[in-house]
Amino acid sequence: MRKPIIAGNWKMYKTFDEATQFLEAVRDQIPTEDKVDAVICAPALYLPTLVGIAADFDLAIGAQNMHYENEGAFTGEISPAQLSSINVDYVILGHSERREYFNETDETVNKKVAAALTAGIVPIICCGETLEERESGKTEQKVSGQIKAALNGFTAEQVEHMVIAYEPIWAIGTGKTATADDANQVCGAIRNVVEQLFNKDCAEKVRIQYGGSVKPENIEELLSKEHIDGALVGGASLQVDSFLALVNKAI
Ligand code: G3H
Repeated sequence: MRKPIIAGNWKMYKTFDEATQFLEAVRDQIPTEDKVDAVICAPALYLPTLVGIAADFDLAIGAQNMHYENEGAFTGEISPAQLSSINVDYVILGHSERREYFNETDETVNKKVAAALTAGIVPIICCGETLEERESGKTEQKVSGQIKAALNGFTAEQVEHMVIAYEPIWAIGTGKTATADDANQVCGAIRNVVEQLFNKDCAEKVRIQYGGSVKPENIEELLSKEHIDGALVGGASLQVDSFLALVNKAI
């Protein structure tokens, strides 16, 4: 019932030419959006060009971060209104790299989710535990806390259109993937949190991705699980062949 969503997070990779060539290369091979939502979250300075290239096929373009204010004296920042003005569809919020290196907090994530909704941009809200938290049995406590904070103050009707990405920090870029069963268990726990906070209908509609060393070889097993509706993919989204394989295997 939930449409799969595969989002590539290019992080701080690719030159401008590499980015535009990637889009031209996938142009004729992306399945239609009635089967799967395919998204590329690119470096901010390429977004207007990529939105233009992707306008006539079914690839959505996302940002990797934004400020929560629409304008102001915030040197180096990009606002929700600015992203909206160039027709960006999605924005990743609260990625663990933003939390670790750029002081992103549960509070700023919550403000950014609100700002994304106002701007008409779909937030991809990230959560996930460290290895230490996993090993001490605190995974669900950590992830539930992040999700409760991020979703504070919204309605079920708003939340059902959001995307949540569960990314165990120890699995990001390491080649270590959570087992499909472990990932499903945490995604199920997130869905329970959404049901407690809002209602069952909202929990059944909200899409939950898994992220962390997803590649064409493991995506089918992950997506076969009840609560995993897609993937947020770093490394394997950088090559045309592997990105297309991920999107096609999600159908
Ligand atoms: O946003 C994507 C995640 O950080 C996963 O990255 O697929 O390279 O492990 P990865």
